[in-house]
Amino acid sequence: MPDPLILIVDDDLRMRQLIRDTLASEGINAVLCSDGAEAAEMVLRQTTDLIITDLMMPQIDGMELLNLALQANPDCLVVVITGYGSIESAVQAIKNGAYDYLQKPFEPDQLLLVVQRALVRLRLQDENRQLRQQVAGCQADELLGASKQMTTLKALITRIAPFDTTVLIQGETGTGKELAARMIHRLSQRRDQRFLPINCGALPETLLESELFGHARGAFTGADKDKKGLLESADHGTLFLDEINTTSPAFQVKLLRVLQEGSFIRVGDHEPRSVDLRVIAASNTTLEKEVQTGRFRSDLFYRLNVVTITLPPLRERNGDIGLLAHYFLTRYARQYGVQLSSISPEALQSLRNYHWPGNVRELENIIERAVIMADGNELQPQYLPRFSVSDTPLSSSSDQELLPMAEVERRHIIRVLKATAGHRGKASKLLGISLASLWRKVKQYGL
Ligand SMILES: Nc1ncnc2c1ncn2[C@@H]1O[C@H](COP(=O)(O)OP(=O)(O)OP(=O)(O)O)[C@@H](O)[C@H]1O
Ligand SMILES: [Mg+2]
Repeated sequence: MPDPLILIVDDDLRMRQLIRDTLASEGINAVLCSDGAEAAEMVLRQTTDLIITDLMMPQIDGMELLNLALQANPDCLVVVITGYGSIESAVQAIKNGAYDYLQKPFEPDQLLLVVQRALVRLRLQDENRQLRQQVAGCQADELLGASKQMTTLKALITRIAPFDTTVLIQGETGTGKELAARMIHRLSQRRDQRFLPINCGALPETLLESELFGHARGAFTGADKDKKGLLESADHGTLFLDEINTTSPAFQVKLLRVLQEGSFIRVGDHEPRSVDLRVIAASNTTLEKEVQTGRFRSDLFYRLNVVTITLPPLRERNGDIGLLAHYFLTRYARQYGVQLSSISPEALQSLRNYHWPGNVRELENIIERAVIMADGNELQPQYLPRFSVSDTPLSSSSDQELLPMAEVERRHIIRVLKATAGHRGKASKLLGISLASLWRKVKQYGL
């Protein structure tokens, strides 16, 4: 985001300078306006992001400036400064769309806190706009993600897909293993043939076997005629063996044969039959570990492991949460004919702070539910589950992000509250602030 345009508007020269100097001490640049008229002219001429304005000014007062600014740019944040004891005007300004207020006299720290918070919001608003544009052209069934991990992964998939080799896809539940398998199929020479997904964990093994391999007449009670298996009907296509880690060693031998010789035997038959299939297998556990503990045959593992693709959990690519959330929002809003078109910065923040044990699937479900429940144009946090403080992991990979102070403070408070199991007395001691300050911050950050 380019540097935001910040205006400081006050007819009192000393006040203007005080505000400017306070912001400058934190490296925040602002433009000074000596009255409402000058500010109004600025606001109409260029896109203004944040205005800190006195309310009482001759000609064009703060309230009028607020209205003008919001007309010119509905995303503009306006902080009004009210005189001592005039809380009514602050309330009125908030009703008219002001972002926040400061009551005179205020401490430099109070001003900075409000401005830092506004800057975080501006950054999120900007991201929101960009994400909306990005997902506008996305197709269903596309493996989305702009994080470094996902970009690398998609490049790997694109590279290996045309080679007719076996692929092993690993990753936690809901990370997009099936989507990745479909992408490989789509980019392969077999794209016009079938993609056949089989969930090895969903059927009892004897049933799975006869489904896959077919059976001969009389193979078991009820087998009154020969039956072709799924392998044969997917001939020349791609076979996706999901949850391969759940299969038994006996079944694994039969799979090995399909991979090694391209042949199989129908249940109750003797005749080997051949098929031409590309096999993609998926596991939500690390197969190598299953081999070490003897639950998975090492020969099959090596056969599958020609190319391994590992899907990263969502919590390790926080940067993709916004993109995916917008994508699902757009998709489900269209599907259900709902007006919803954006996600509020607060809601986005809360999605980003959660650690997503169910990964993308969990995010998709949460957004689908929110789309059904929410009112208005923008998704507000109250339509999301209350991700409790204990849902936030102690350290996250996003710790390396360059964050505004207010955000660092918010995250740090969450950490300390978690470490003290929510005990505010202990937390305030650790943080070195009074219980009252902690209470205020907890409220302010909506923790
Ligand atoms: N990168 C992504 N972009 C868009 N949608 C995604 C992405 N990853 C997952 N999804 C969506 O999330 C849901 C779960 O994905 P998928 O079924 O591929 O996960 P999985 O890893 O196979 O999970 P499981 O191990 O539980 O079977 C699907 O609806 C899928 O469309
Ligand atoms: Mg799956």
